[in-house]
Amino acid sequence: GSSVLEQLPEEHADLVSGLPCAPRPNGLSNLRCYEGFWLPEWSVPVAVALQRRFQPRRDDVIVASFPKCGTTWVNALTFATMARRAHPAAGAGHPLLRLNPHQCVPFLEALFRSRRGEAKLEALPSPRLMNTHMPLRMMPPADSAGGCKVVYVCREPKDMVVSLWHYLRRLQPDLPLADVSESVCGGAAMYGPVWDHILGYWSASTARPDSVLFLRYEELLRDPAKHVRKLARFVGLPFSGAEEEAGVVDDIVKLCSIGHLKTLEANKTGHVDPIFPIPREALFRKGVAGDWVNYMTPEMARRIDEIVADKFHTTGLTF
Ligand code: A3P
Repeated sequence: GSSVLEQLPEEHADLVSGLPCAPRPNGLSNLRCYEGFWLPEWSVPVAVALQRRFQPRRDDVIVASFPKCGTTWVNALTFATMARRAHPAAGAGHPLLRLNPHQCVPFLEALFRSRRGEAKLEALPSPRLMNTHMPLRMMPPADSAGGCKVVYVCREPKDMVVSLWHYLRRLQPDLPLADVSESVCGGAAMYGPVWDHILGYWSASTARPDSVLFLRYEELLRDPAKHVRKLARFVGLPFSGAEEEAGVVDDIVKLCSIGHLKTLEANKTGHVDPIFPIPREALFRKGVAGDWVNYMTPEMARRIDEIVADKFHTTGLTF
């Protein structure tokens, strides 16, 4: 059955029971459709709490993503970039050498599960760095967001599906790729529909480029250093000439590379979190673009491509 942590507290039963429901197998909590997005039951009250009570600060930075689109990497890069004065990337004592990247960046959904978590977030010194998978509409409205900055990373959807499948197979080894692909295409996947997730942040990034930085996993792979510089400028901490000369950008890229992170004890042992009993090493698989060709049938690929073409053709966003 579902773990205690996945159960919905009694006081939220009314809020949730009226919402459309998509049951999930293997004791995972049902998904509920809240304001157009499919969330696990327990995180509907979290979304409500975020919308009502999250008070972003002007210098907050939030790393946002749909799951399996490069969250771990962008968390690591943003953390290493923002913390570089206190923790030089080439230093022997760097937190990323002893902690999983997710442990370095608090997860909004986890904090907003309890008043204690909210108080913890409130007590963090500025500038705060946080992570979320929530769609933009679960964040407080931009005008109340005090100019807080969002770094969004998206990924080619077929590769996301294949990555998600590998990940979920850690919970359910016989899970067919077709099932994962089907639920993503239908929208009822955790935090889905993925297209609407991407589009929400995409339109915000075009309307408010100073507040929302839209990154793509494939472009990060092609030129990580260029994007680390972009990230640093975006968060208001551009690299100085002296830092450039000292090779700080490359130090950050190397520290956060999948090849390096994979070898660290903190990433080889332990679990992602108590709710999702997936080993941390599952966060670091191949880390390439185009792996879908090795797993998807042409029909599966075509179906996703058709939805993508349909959803994005007017936006200027292509995959
Ligand atoms: P693959 O399964 O295709 O290899 P998330 O962090 O959002 O869960 O995304 C996981 C995906 O990012 C996985 O993709 C994983 O291998 C890849 N990844 C994790 N850390 C990475 C890093 N440092 N550099 C590049 N890719 C990374």
